[in-house]
Amino acid sequence: MTLQEGLGMQQIRYGLVGAGYFGSALGRALAALPDARVTVVHDPLHAEALASELGARVTESTEALCSDPEVDAVIVASPNWAHVEPVILAAQNGKHIFCEKPIALGYDDCLRMVEAADRAGVLFMAGHVMNFMNGVRRAKELIAQGAIGDVLFCRAVRNGWEEPQPEVTWKKKRELSGGHLYHHIHELDLVQSILGPATEATMVGGNVAHRGPQFGDEDDLLVITLEFGGRAFAALEYGSAFRWPEHHVLIEGTLGAIRIDLQDVGVELRAPGRRESFLLHRSEAEDRDRARIYSDSSMDGAIMYGKPSLVPPLWLQGVIEEELSYFHGLLLGGEPLPEFAALTDGSAATAAIATADALSLSLREGRKVRVAEITGVDGGRSRHSAGEEGR
Ligand SMILES: NC(=O)c1ccc[n+]([C@@H]2O[C@H](COP(=O)([O-])OP(=O)(O)OC[C@H]3O[C@@H](n4cnc5c(N)ncnc54)[C@H](O)[C@@H]3O)[C@@H](O)[C@H]2O)c1
Repeated sequence: MTLQEGLGMQQIRYGLVGAGYFGSALGRALAALPDARVTVVHDPLHAEALASELGARVTESTEALCSDPEVDAVIVASPNWAHVEPVILAAQNGKHIFCEKPIALGYDDCLRMVEAADRAGVLFMAGHVMNFMNGVRRAKELIAQGAIGDVLFCRAVRNGWEEPQPEVTWKKKRELSGGHLYHHIHELDLVQSILGPATEATMVGGNVAHRGPQFGDEDDLLVITLEFGGRAFAALEYGSAFRWPEHHVLIEGTLGAIRIDLQDVGVELRAPGRRESFLLHRSEAEDRDRARIYSDSSMDGAIMYGKPSLVPPLWLQGVIEEELSYFHGLLLGGEPLPEFAALTDGSAATAAIATADALSLSLREGRKVRVAEITGVDGGRSRHSAGEEGR
């Protein structure tokens, strides 16, 4: 099946790999869309409850789900380490794919996934959900209109403090989640969606305050600088070793600046003679809900780890709805939007993982790393050929 033949279907039957905190939310959001059905669920621990809620069948293996004739598209929401296998199996079986972030925990795996989808001619969308926040879309639109001139610098901060957890989940283990940088790849993806792929990457940090049996082994304090061919720069901070919680992205241009506040919630443009504030999410209620969660005791700054027993907050359900409506719309033959092209041509996924890998290498070897050392191509461009095939 080519991509063109595959798109424009009347109804999409979804298979869900992973039915924990996020997979369940994705499944429920899909089931609520017109012309969508979740037909099959695979999860070694939590498939039954969601499948019965959504009127779906349970399969015992990823292979069975990916080759199921009643599945047109596979939604991958298994833990981060377990994305590669279902994506490649789905592609080999001619199924369209939506995969949660981080797409992979290494560039070579990411490339194999993108190339498998390319070869099969199926749609492969990266679940970089931040792109679907209304305020982020508006900020990028303003930047494209020249409202802040040429972007020179971005600062992204996602900091909080983490107390000992009753149980150490896969999300705290570097080998399974990739740690803060990969698990929260949103800000890195956003910065690169504005400035393009980074050319040089430097990271310092380590696990400075979360050692011992009540914690995983991820680094809890990461300080990053990125260079963009000498024309622009970025500084990012991530971690759970910060007692002063902060979560924002600041974009500085030659004519003005935009600050996306993910903690006190809202977006602001400042330029000489111009000030504009707008919502981050779809409504005052969603923005307020987010601000409340950050300010009450349910979060330590930007540190929140969903568990299978939890339901995502209102604002996150809203963004999931926007994101999946777009994916579903493409499968039904909808018009692709240029603003989201990088999510479906493989470039956002590969650029994010390439830069994350370059940063990891920088930390390990204590030096600045050219992203080309990871991708094999100078200028920070990924060596994949996804865009050329028009996925
Ligand atoms: N975009 C976002 O904002 C966002 C938010 C939360 C989670 N996520 C992503 O969603 C994915 C799932 O995270 P979560 O929060 O639901 O975690 P979770 O631990 O709540 O759920 C993971 C589920 O996967 C199941 N599982 C384990 N191994 C599996 C396998 N090999 N195949 C299929 N299922 C398997 C587990 O039994 C569990 O039910 C992760 O990739 C995570 O990064 C994204």
